[in-house]
Amino acid sequence: MDLVNSILNLVVPPTSMVMMALAWPTLSFLHAVEWIFHSLYRENMENKVVVITGASSAIGEQLVYEYARKKANLVLVARREHRLRGIRENARLLGAKQVLVIAADVVKEEDCRRFINDTVSYFGQLNHLVNSASLGHTFFFEEATDTSVFPHMMDINFWGNVYPTYVALPYLRQSHGRILVNTSVESWLPMPRMSLYAAAKAALINFYETLRFEMKDAVGITIATHGWIGGETGRGKFMIEEGAEMQWKEEREVPLTGGQVGEFARKMVSGACRGEAYVRHPSWYDIFLLYRVLIPDVLGWTFRLIFSTRETRMPSLMGTGPPPLDAPPPRKLLSGPQPMPE
Ligand SMILES: NC(=O)c1ccc[n+]([C@@H]2O[C@H](COP(=O)([O-])OP(=O)(O)OC[C@H]3O[C@@H](n4cnc5c(N)ncnc54)[C@H](OP(=O)(O)O)[C@@H]3O)[C@@H](O)[C@H]2O)c1
Repeated sequence: MDLVNSILNLVVPPTSMVMMALAWPTLSFLHAVEWIFHSLYRENMENKVVVITGASSAIGEQLVYEYARKKANLVLVARREHRLRGIRENARLLGAKQVLVIAADVVKEEDCRRFINDTVSYFGQLNHLVNSASLGHTFFFEEATDTSVFPHMMDINFWGNVYPTYVALPYLRQSHGRILVNTSVESWLPMPRMSLYAAAKAALINFYETLRFEMKDAVGITIATHGWIGGETGRGKFMIEEGAEMQWKEEREVPLTGGQVGEFARKMVSGACRGEAYVRHPSWYDIFLLYRVLIPDVLGWTFRLIFSTRETRMPSLMGTGPPPLDAPPPRKLLSGPQPMPE
């Protein structure tokens, strides 16, 4: 067996390179045809039904506004109901038909069943499920002082997508619907201080790629990956100080870089409506795929350089915690179609 593997080690890589070079023109042609088809085809979302988890802030909120502009019926899901209510008003102003607000925890299967079943009971159908609930963190793994937070990372970032998907699938199959899932560039480009988050996001990608095979064309899946664009992720719903106990730190209602978040939400919704399998933003991140495959050492050296100084190892922020129930609702839309940045 060792001999066979040694021969294959020598033969397979160069043969594959030659085959890929030969297949390149055909693949480019197929991609061009696919691109033209996707540019011409757009799902009309008017009167369709969209459930959006993580709708109470940042990207999730902007996704609500994008679907609202397309005149869809919306179901907004998150734990902070008071924020969802403000976002519902904005969504109506932007053109949404009917908007339901459902406070729920996506980590609890029974909550997921409730908001999906309520949606179908009320509207009679479900067309898009948008999974945007998440929990970010930035801490060096060995500096974590409370391991009880570890399962939360997987719960929200992984199971918080799997449960809503599981309960929604039969209805999405009926409507030939679509799942739009919000992952991150860390799913394939893991960064220091994001170990658990990156692991959960990588698991999420493999889960949805497998589901894509299993569902064939019955239910579409759009996977969105993007770099840091702002929002509450990583802004520290609690903080771990070096050598100190974990403390709650409410920094959730901070100003956002609204433009970028809005632009990414626009790309996500338009990609989903065009039936695209992937939405990536910004696209220059793609070059790191080549680095990772061909010269991974360079990435390693870069990260080591950036994260070796004392400043970059100081307090690290970590995301989520109990919802701050006294947080203010989002600002109202005063005029025009643009939601006010927070
Ligand atoms: N922002 C970025 O720069 C960035 C970069 C790469 C990837 N991403 C990804 O993009 C997605 C959205 O990011 P974001 O910046 O908009 O995040 P965010 O501002 O932290 O929002 C997270 C949302 O998830 C909800 N949520 C958290 N835990 C929940 C739970 N257990 N049940 C129900 N809802 C829950 C929160 O609402 P409640 O607290 O009210 O429940 C909130 O609406 C995430 O998947 C994130 O990983 C973001």
